[in-house]
Amino acid sequence: MKVLVLGAAAGGGFPQWNCNSALCRRVRAGDPAAKPRSQSSIAVSADGRGWVVFNASPDLRQQFNDNPPLHPKEGLRHTPLGAVVLTNADVDHVAGLLTLRERQAFALYASGRVQDALAANPIFNVLHPDFVARRALELDEATPIRNGGDDDLGLTVTPFAVPGKVALYLEDQAAGPDFGTREGDTIGLRIEAPGQGSGFYYIPGCAAVDGPLAQRLQGAPLVFFDGTLYRDDEMIEAGLGSKTGARMGHVSISGPEGSLAAFEGLGVRRRIYIHINNSNPVLLEDSEARRAVEAAGWEVAYDGQEIEL
Ligand code: MLT
Ligand code: MN
Repeated sequence: MKVLVLGAAAGGGFPQWNCNSALCRRVRAGDPAAKPRSQSSIAVSADGRGWVVFNASPDLRQQFNDNPPLHPKEGLRHTPLGAVVLTNADVDHVAGLLTLRERQAFALYASGRVQDALAANPIFNVLHPDFVARRALELDEATPIRNGGDDDLGLTVTPFAVPGKVALYLEDQAAGPDFGTREGDTIGLRIEAPGQGSGFYYIPGCAAVDGPLAQRLQGAPLVFFDGTLYRDDEMIEAGLGSKTGARMGHVSISGPEGSLAAFEGLGVRRRIYIHINNSNPVLLEDSEARRAVEAAGWEVAYDGQEIEL
């Protein structure tokens, strides 16, 4: 099984179009310790030929162009893409679906909640039902991923609920502190290629590492995990915004409740932060934060990173 990191940044990317912070300025200046990153997505293949994209970022078009395994291979219209799987309905995970119009067959998997959000928005009708099969993922059910023509792509996905929040644009302000969040709004995935080991976890959005999640991840060979913020209040501290990570549905890396502490002792062999916000100092290769996460055994995902499992 091959994993390709298409985009390692959170929504906005690194640099973000309107961000003039010291971090984003270093990227624009070409600083080698501040490498650009596009928005949150990975591609996975069981055989190196057919690919499944996990989350369709607004940068999807460029990500496909930058990664030769995803280029058309034959005829005038072709794609190695067989399916797209979504972990939530956030803009940075669904906007790329609009790039995938052009009467190309593939399958689109997401929880019922996320499928409902897409169905309620007619702009996604550019994915014509004659070509794009929309399939609902059931929580805790191992699901073989099939392409639009119903051929098995050799990957099985098991979705599970994780602490999280409904997409920002779907928040119900009148619904109380959870903004109307329901099960299925944010999921984590176990991704495996049957016969090729025990697979890995992809959890780009998560509000807390609670007991059930910690138990599930115990001893896993590889986990991609939500690295949105280093500190819960870093956006406020930097003057970039008014929200904490907790308000956005993202557990921070540092702190007593943070993911660094929560993964200690879980025996996860390889740990990689992904969905990293442009305010997060781990993006800087010369930062104290980067040294701290690496000292704790974590990697910071980068665009073009390839992993063979
Ligand atoms: C998130 O990860 O919290 C969202 O992508 C935020 C957003 O929609 O900008
Ligand atoms: Mn996001």
